[in-house]
Amino acid sequence: PASARAGANGGLTVGGVGLADAADRFGTPLYVLDEHEVRARARAYRTALPDTEVLYAAKAFLSSTLVHWIEEEGLGLDVCSEGELRLAAAAGFPPERILLHGNAKSPDELRLARRLRVGRIVIDNLAEIPRLAALTVADAPQRVLVRVVPGVAAGHHEAVRTGIAGQKFGFPVEGGDAMEAVRRVLAQPGLVLGGLHCHLGSQIGSVEPYLTAVERLAELLAGIRDECGVQLPELDLGGGHGIAYRPGDEALDPAEFGALVPARLAEECGRHGLSVPRLLVEPGRAVTGPAGVAVYRVLSVKHGADGRVFAAVDGGMSDNPRPALYGARYSVRPVGRTTTGATQQVDVVGRHCEAGDVLVRGARLPADLRPGDLLAVPAAGAYQLSMASGYNLVGRPAVVAVRDGHARLLIRRETVEDFRAREIFH
Ligand code: LLP
Repeated sequence: PASARAGANGGLTVGGVGLADAADRFGTPLYVLDEHEVRARARAYRTALPDTEVLYAAKAFLSSTLVHWIEEEGLGLDVCSEGELRLAAAAGFPPERILLHGNAKSPDELRLARRLRVGRIVIDNLAEIPRLAALTVADAPQRVLVRVVPGVAAGHHEAVRTGIAGQKFGFPVEGGDAMEAVRRVLAQPGLVLGGLHCHLGSQIGSVEPYLTAVERLAELLAGIRDECGVQLPELDLGGGHGIAYRPGDEALDPAEFGALVPARLAEECGRHGLSVPRLLVEPGRAVTGPAGVAVYRVLSVKHGADGRVFAAVDGGMSDNPRPALYGARYSVRPVGRTTTGATQQVDVVGRHCEAGDVLVRGARLPADLRPGDLLAVPAAGAYQLSMASGYNLVGRPAVVAVRDGHARLLIRRETVEDFRAREIFH
């Protein structure tokens, strides 16, 4: 993992905290978030992209403490629901640095966004243009971006490829839908069109698709200037920056993005005689993903007749649905016990009532792996807890933040009492 190191006794540590100690203290499954790593990643974006507005995509993982870190590191926040917006606002995040997304924003969400005075709202369908305009008043117009689909395929799985036509988000550039949306926004006195937005997909390992998107969007910006007589001052390229889940995985390097993308934008704008818009980016996974480690306890080890070995842990698809949803591949490491050195191939499976509840297939783990052992899954800080479910009433795990040898509980473990608290008894 990016942040886990072998400690003096052979046990893994993160942020100076032994994972075995943390597991004993807080129980398992446990999600451990390295504060320094989150902050360092946020800072790396600001350094690599000094003239770009960097907004953390809250959907990857959100908690009030994380909101403070993001705020302190000078990033903005991309939210996509009333819940994310309320949590961020309650944590004191400056509303002008918040951007609201969503392909199905409710009237309540739009009203709340207006009441809080969020900095930007991304328009995703024609109906919300007059709906949002009706909530504005002359002295406080709403800044918006129009989400367009540039026709660039990128991302680790079909479910997250949003840069191409035929999926629900945005207005296709091809065929004129994007231009029509721009025209309608410009016709609303209560709306200020900041610029265009696109999000290509997620877990993208190279800068190439972004360069292609920049070319197409610069062309669209030139078309908007020619047809509507305006030069739009902002261009939001969304998120999608990939991380390494396993050694050797291709990760997108913010420094490379920063070296190539703004330069290409300047070049393309030059070609079209456009002034260069200010860039925005919305990385989620790349900020928190590598900073998280999931710690599980082995509950049983089963040797199948065909030689397969199943190590079942106390979590699974309820805290990490990514392997089941996308076929996502992870690595796993034993925590804190000296072993003989011999290894075996093991399927690390969850505790849920489905054969598909497999966290890591074919992992190399100690030959003497046994119940009670701890396993750590790195790169667990994004799209695991934020997509966790209540399946089998196992309860969502606790989350702790670690830093300089200290661990603090950020989110307590969910219990059956939490489930029962929502029930109405008759
Ligand atoms: N901006 C927009 C408009 C997005 O839709 C997303 C992610 C992001 C930014 C942040 O993308 P990131 O930098 O985190 O890749 N659950 C899936 C990923 C879904 C991504 C949805 N949108 C997964 O676990 O792979």
